[in-house]
Amino acid sequence: MRLGTSTTLIAFAHLFVAAVLSSSLAYADDDGQLAEGARVFNTIAGVGCKTCHGEYAEGDVGVGPYIRGATEGTIRASIDATGEMIVIKSAITEDEIKAVSAYVGRLGTMQAVRTLAKRGRFLPAEISIRPGTAVQLIIQNASIQPHTFKSDNLGIGEFTITGRSSGNVEWRAPETEGEFSLYCSDCKLKNQFFTVRVAESAEEFRAVVPVNSVTDDAM
Ligand code: HEC
Repeated sequence: MRLGTSTTLIAFAHLFVAAVLSSSLAYADDDGQLAEGARVFNTIAGVGCKTCHGEYAEGDVGVGPYIRGATEGTIRASIDATGEMIVIKSAITEDEIKAVSAYVGRLGTMQAVRTLAKRGRFLPAEISIRPGTAVQLIIQNASIQPHTFKSDNLGIGEFTITGRSSGNVEWRAPETEGEFSLYCSDCKLKNQFFTVRVAESAEEFRAVVPVNSVTDDAM
């Protein structure tokens, strides 16, 4: 009887420790998990996923492929089976896999739209997207100087991008057609715009969700 009681107590003690641990690891909200996912994506194991998959997971570095929208299952399978990702495997925790999956998954819900700001001009100067599309607008500042970008009709505030780097803003196109633009407010060359044309005729955004062949075997 005594033995039984103490065993129960020990069992309870374990439960208690587990509960405290999991509650301290739980995220206060989705934003907290996404912020943690961004940290993992940018810095895990001292390289981050971005070194191989690109800053915006577009596969533009030439090492790892486009992974915007990859699921937790695909990410797990890739960490387990991709030789190049061995450095990640030994460094990443369960919670970090979940967080980075949430982050990468969310990137897949947005169309990545890029422009290069160079000498006050935008390349390309115009893009077309479908009404209602969620967009991650990525501006690469080619200058060594920081520059400030502004829009009078996108409904996003002024933002500054440091030299030789990129910045991004998230924006959802309205359900109706229209034209929206932003410009560099502190560049020497004025009256240059990056225009986002919202048009029914634009190509529909479909995230190319990676389905790893490894995942098909493993799941
Ligand atoms: C050192 C380079 C490197 C790092 C760092 C890296 N990856 Fe990869 N990753 C690769 C390569 C290379 C492949 C492609 C392997 C192949 O095709 O066999 C890949 C494949 C993938 C795939 C499968 C894509 C597909 O289309 O099948 C996913 C998902 C993935 N990586 C996610 C991540 C995540 C998330 C991180 C960070 C936690 C990460 N990777 C870090 C190099 C890397």
